[in-house]
Amino acid sequence: MSAASDTLSAEYQASQEEVLSLIQIIEDVARGNYSNDIMEFTKPGHSKMIQRVAEAIGMMMVRIEARELRLEQLVEELRRLNRVLEKNTTQAVIAIAHALGARDRYTEGHAHRVSVYSERLARRIGLPEEEVERIRIGGVLHDIGKIGFSDLIFSKEDVRFNEAMVEEIHRHPAIGVYILKDLSFLGPVLDYVHYHHESLDGTGYPRGLKRDQIPLGAGIISVADCFDAITTDRPYHKGLGVEEAFDILRKIRGKNISPELVDAFIEEIRENGTL
Ligand SMILES: [Fe+2]
Repeated sequence: MSAASDTLSAEYQASQEEVLSLIQIIEDVARGNYSNDIMEFTKPGHSKMIQRVAEAIGMMMVRIEARELRLEQLVEELRRLNRVLEKNTTQAVIAIAHALGARDRYTEGHAHRVSVYSERLARRIGLPEEEVERIRIGGVLHDIGKIGFSDLIFSKEDVRFNEAMVEEIHRHPAIGVYILKDLSFLGPVLDYVHYHHESLDGTGYPRGLKRDQIPLGAGIISVADCFDAITTDRPYHKGLGVEEAFDILRKIRGKNISPELVDAFIEEIRENGTL
């Protein structure tokens, strides 16, 4: 073979290798790995054709990266707007829950206190913040189903509840869920509202759920609900002191409410007080 044909063959091989490494970089770009390696091929020393291909791919990468960045910003903005929307809707529902206070002043203060106690207990036992927030909302809304009670049940007199009235009272968790059911973002909050009167031994209502069947959030609201009911004045009884309330909680500990929740709740109140 002549020296000229040797040179030609070496040039051909070099250009083949150049094309192959360019293809590898393009394949990498296709997989989403944007590196600056392509820019090497735009420099002098490469053939005009290779330079043009590399420049075009480089431009394409810049445009794709800019669009991806814009998309990420738009997704983040959508997430933020969604959070604002959820917060506003929750505020609107809480405002409706306050309407209950117009019928029964006791219930409104009760909902607020149960919400704060539930939030404190949830945080104390180490639940993640988003779950603490769900339990806080569940606490505000837990008795929203009482909005449909007859006036007699809200009467300030010491009314003797007949069977029909007891049945009506037992319906309030389900009515609460019915009111809230279209707010899908509330998710498990609906269960907390539904099951806040369930009892570990299965004697609660509306479903008679037992132990592990009762969601933790519902159990938390349940302790807070009991404590507040015992310690505040109601139309039909005077509120008891904190130590007396702890005695009652200890009696229902393990029977109606999980021992861990009762213990953590007592610790929380001892450390940080009542409202
Ligand atoms: Fe309730």
